[in-house]
Amino acid sequence: AIPVITLDGPSASGKGTIAHLVAQALGFHYLDSGVLYRLVALAAMKHAIAAEDEPNIVAMARCLNVSFVDATVQLDGVDVSEAVRAEICGEYASRIAQYPTLREVLLDRQRNFRELPGLVTDGRDMGSVVFPDATLKIYLTADAEERARRRYKQLIEKGINANIADLVASLRERDERDSKRLASPLQQCEDTHLLDTTGFSIDQVVNQVLSMYAD
Ligand code: CDP
Repeated sequence: AIPVITLDGPSASGKGTIAHLVAQALGFHYLDSGVLYRLVALAAMKHAIAAEDEPNIVAMARCLNVSFVDATVQLDGVDVSEAVRAEICGEYASRIAQYPTLREVLLDRQRNFRELPGLVTDGRDMGSVVFPDATLKIYLTADAEERARRRYKQLIEKGINANIADLVASLRERDERDSKRLASPLQQCEDTHLLDTTGFSIDQVVNQVLSMYAD
C-alpha cells in the first residue's frame, strides 16, 4: 500500500507546520484536510449560505471546484490561499464540520491524495476515519495557552490584529465542538501515538515524527 502518515490534533497544535515539513523531508505529498473544510466554508460564505443550512452546504461541497497549484489553493480558479486562513473561515469551518453528511462528501476527495511515493496529512480524523490503514498515526497536542500563543504569533506576523485571551477562548470552544463529535483518537485506535509538543521546537517534533516513521 502507498504509505500514509496521519497527524491529527486540536486547533493550532502545530500539526500543519509539522506535517508540511515531514512531507518535505520524505518527498511525500501533503494534504491539509482542514483546508477542504475551510474551502467549503469560504464558498458557502461567498454564496451567502448560512452555516445552519446543511443541505446547501453539502450541495456546495459536492461540486466544489478546487485545485492545488504550486503552493496555492484555488477556488474556481481564483487563488484563495490567504482568504481560507482567515479566522472567520476557521470559525465557519468548525461549525459545518459537525455535519456527518459533509464529512462523508469530503472522504473521497481526501483519499484521492494518496499517491506515490506517499502522503502526509493532517486534520482531526485522518488516522481514525479517512486513512484507518495509515502507516503511522500520530496525535499531536499542546496545552491551550501554548496553542493560543502560536496562533497569535502567526496572525501578528500576517499583520492581523489578535488578542491572546480571545484566542484561548475560541480554541477551547473549537476543542469542545471537536471533542463532542470525535471520540478521543486514542480510544478509537490503539495504534495512534500521542505526541505532546508543549515546550518542544518545530525541529524537535519533526525529527521525532521522522524517527517514528523510520522505526
Ligand atoms: O486548526 P484550525 O481549527 O484552526 O483549522 P483547520 O485545521 O484548518 O480546520 C478548520 C476546521 O475544520 C476545524 O476547526 C475542524 O473543526 C474542521 N476539521 C475537521 O472537522 N476535520 C478535519 N479533518 C480537518 C478540519
